Amino acid sequence: MTKRIGILTSGGDCAGLNATIRAVALRAHHGHGWTTVGIHYGTLGLLERPVEAEVLDVDRLDAALARQGGTFLGSTNRGDPFAFPMPDGSRKDRSGEMVEGLHLLGLEGLIGVGGDGSLDILRRLLAPSGVPLVGIPKTIDNDVANTERAIGYPTAVAVATEALDRLQPTGASHERVMVLEVMGRDAGHIAIAAAIAGGADVVLIPEVRWHIERVVAHIAALRAAGRSSALVVVAEAAGQSDEAADAASDAPKHGVGEWLARRLSQATGAEARATVLGHVQRGAMPTAEDRLLAAALGVRAVDLLAEGKADRMVAWWNRQVIDVPLAKVVGRSRTVDRDGTLIRTARALGICLGDAR
Ligand code: F6P
Repeated sequence: MTKRIGILTSGGDCAGLNATIRAVALRAHHGHGWTTVGIHYGTLGLLERPVEAEVLDVDRLDAALARQGGTFLGSTNRGDPFAFPMPDGSRKDRSGEMVEGLHLLGLEGLIGVGGDGSLDILRRLLAPSGVPLVGIPKTIDNDVANTERAIGYPTAVAVATEALDRLQPTGASHERVMVLEVMGRDAGHIAIAAAIAGGADVVLIPEVRWHIERVVAHIAALRAAGRSSALVVVAEAAGQSDEAADAASDAPKHGVGEWLARRLSQATGAEARATVLGHVQRGAMPTAEDRLLAAALGVRAVDLLAEGKADRMVAWWNRQVIDVPLAKVVGRSRTVDRDGTLIRTARALGICLGDAR
């Protein structure tokens, strides 16, 4: 009988998921003669009876699919299997039902596409099931440990950079300080990359302790030197971390972009406007880099199952696809390296990070 493997996408969607699903199904079929079953809505599909899933017909997975944003399987970032929210407000362990769902589908391997939270849940879910698991990292936040890239991040950076390209002319026309708040739940990867690529004057990220006075001084100096407009990038988490905002700065945990625009306007006299980029960063057509990443990681994930390897995640490292134990991924987060190339590059370009250096 043909071997059947499953694939599901879990957590927040991002660009490149459809390209990943396609790569997995094509490799499984053409490389190994296997059937791939796509499970709907992450782990939620496993709770339905019959299980909500579909056999992926490789003839229908044409290249157009790789260009589409989102995930045609659906995803969820709710519904912890071990503490599933019930209609009456209580929590219930429904992991057994999900494992039963996997067995009902007759799966002999599962590829889970997710961030570290989703991969952690899948790992715990599958451990007692005997079904081998291989993870593929995805998140626009790019904070999955032990991989330089997660699917979705390159597109998010491209979208944020394009936003800066668009904010610059309108900011210059009206002599305004344009503040762009970008996503990144706990990390500043999107912010630092877009700030460099988009020619920002200031970038604030949770990994660098910043002070509003230094940002004000930088903008004031630019204005004194004759520059009438400025671009400021702020990571959504920049006001959250204990290590980030100055205790005296009262930067909020949510809405740091609007807050920053207000403070800069009050302190410098410049007109300022905030743009919160939000889910625009997730719902885009994947860039070529994301499609390549999806293809390379998807193919290798299937091959790992074929080699009998499990409880591992495929990763992008030094322009190679490698694989690492999931145990070295879950419960960790890869934040922006304070002494790394991107921070050094930003500083060298004269971009203000709001700190003392
Ligand atoms: O983790 C991806 C991410 O897009 C974060 O950057 C953001 O903080 C969060 O998800 C938003 O989640 P939701 O779509 O549930 O609002």
